[in-house]
Amino acid sequence: MIDMESKKLINVPKVVTEVPGPKSLSILKEQRKYETSTISYTDSFPFAVKSAKGSVITDADENTFIDWMTGISVLNLGYDEGIIQAVRDQMERSWHALEIPTEARVDFLKKFSHSFPSEMKNYRTMFGISGADAVETAVNIAHSVGGSRSSTVTFEGAYHGVSGGIVSATAGTKYKRTSYSQGLSVVRVPYPYPLWYGEDVSDIIADLRKIMVDHESGYEVPDSLLVEPIQGEGGYIVPPDGFLKAIREFCDQYDLSMIVDEVQSGMGRTGKMWAFEHEGIIPDIVCASKSVAGGIPMSAIYYRDDYDRKLPKPFHMGTYRANPLALAAGAYVLDTVPRYLPRVQEDGKKLVSEFREIESDIMLDVRGKGFMIGVELGNHNKPLSPERIMKIKHALLNLGLIMHTCGHFGNVFRYMGALNIPEELNERGMEIFSSVIKNERGE
Ligand SMILES: Cc1ncc(COP(=O)(O)O)c(C=O)c1O
Repeated sequence: MIDMESKKLINVPKVVTEVPGPKSLSILKEQRKYETSTISYTDSFPFAVKSAKGSVITDADENTFIDWMTGISVLNLGYDEGIIQAVRDQMERSWHALEIPTEARVDFLKKFSHSFPSEMKNYRTMFGISGADAVETAVNIAHSVGGSRSSTVTFEGAYHGVSGGIVSATAGTKYKRTSYSQGLSVVRVPYPYPLWYGEDVSDIIADLRKIMVDHESGYEVPDSLLVEPIQGEGGYIVPPDGFLKAIREFCDQYDLSMIVDEVQSGMGRTGKMWAFEHEGIIPDIVCASKSVAGGIPMSAIYYRDDYDRKLPKPFHMGTYRANPLALAAGAYVLDTVPRYLPRVQEDGKKLVSEFREIESDIMLDVRGKGFMIGVELGNHNKPLSPERIMKIKHALLNLGLIMHTCGHFGNVFRYMGALNIPEELNERGMEIFSSVIKNERGE
């Protein structure tokens, strides 16, 4: 017997026109007339959204697509009915409150705090609006509590956002005192990327030690280190086991604040609520955004309470921080995500094996944890060209699969399905991906 959910999915995906179809094309043309020509997502995904439900997106021409992109890990529960309800209920109460508490705010704060390991239960939450805002503020916190040093270790291939600097134009010195985005100083070291560079964790730690002790290294001595537990935009790069532990030990030894950027890897994406939990370490500061409010813009920084006692007031500003609609959606997401974690761990492993079984001479590497999986394409030890990658993306789209790419060379297809995506949509998506990749020949 077919259950109701499966019945609704019988026609998914269904692509009845070339993509874009005539209605999408006309909407795209109107967009192009008025909006900046600098947008780029429409090159990869040239259609107009009519509606979306769960993990299915319907375009203006009634084509239906499987969503393996989730707005870049923003919709970890997909377009979920529970989020609609939470936002609707909150909308009827209020939708802007600055920092004045609402029930939604306190509810979110409690649940957010409980989502972390018990060792972090006394940490504090500071709100932001975007991922970039959160990471920038995290660095500002580290510098504000870190004594006289004022640079941060970051990694090759890292992505932490594009923002900042405007505080220089604001007059109040009290705002400038704790904002280092006026001239952030970074020390960059390799992130372990075995496929291309084979960097060894012990070599990276040795480089870091040199920077701390050898004042001829040419770097300003850092007080903090910013790391993605799995690199996102850098190419869904999974570092070897023990990497975060080694980083934690290094930070402890040289008194650096360890900032973990969970903007993309957090909220259940890797099969644990927070990806750093795979290594059992405790960060000093954690940055969350994207799925933290189920797709309503918000970010949050979770940091040590002894740091909190050292911060001046005011510290961080922003009119729209912690919007009540986002907080209500976020409380629902925090309640719901844990239910799916065992499924994400199990099905994530299954998906990795299925990707690995695809027979094709352009498959270079498959790696991932949970539902954060990267499939790197190339051949003869060369990444596939951007033109070939775009062609494959469009071929997938025309068969009804939305899949995005990332990576140093833009050649990594990433699986980012919703944690609650129906199994049949993973199966159909895999059939589509595999049929397209099998037909591709090396260059
Ligand atoms: C790990 C990570 N940090 C920060 C950001 C920046 O977030 P936002 O685009 O919301 O500023 C991103 C965005 O993709 C990200 O992946």
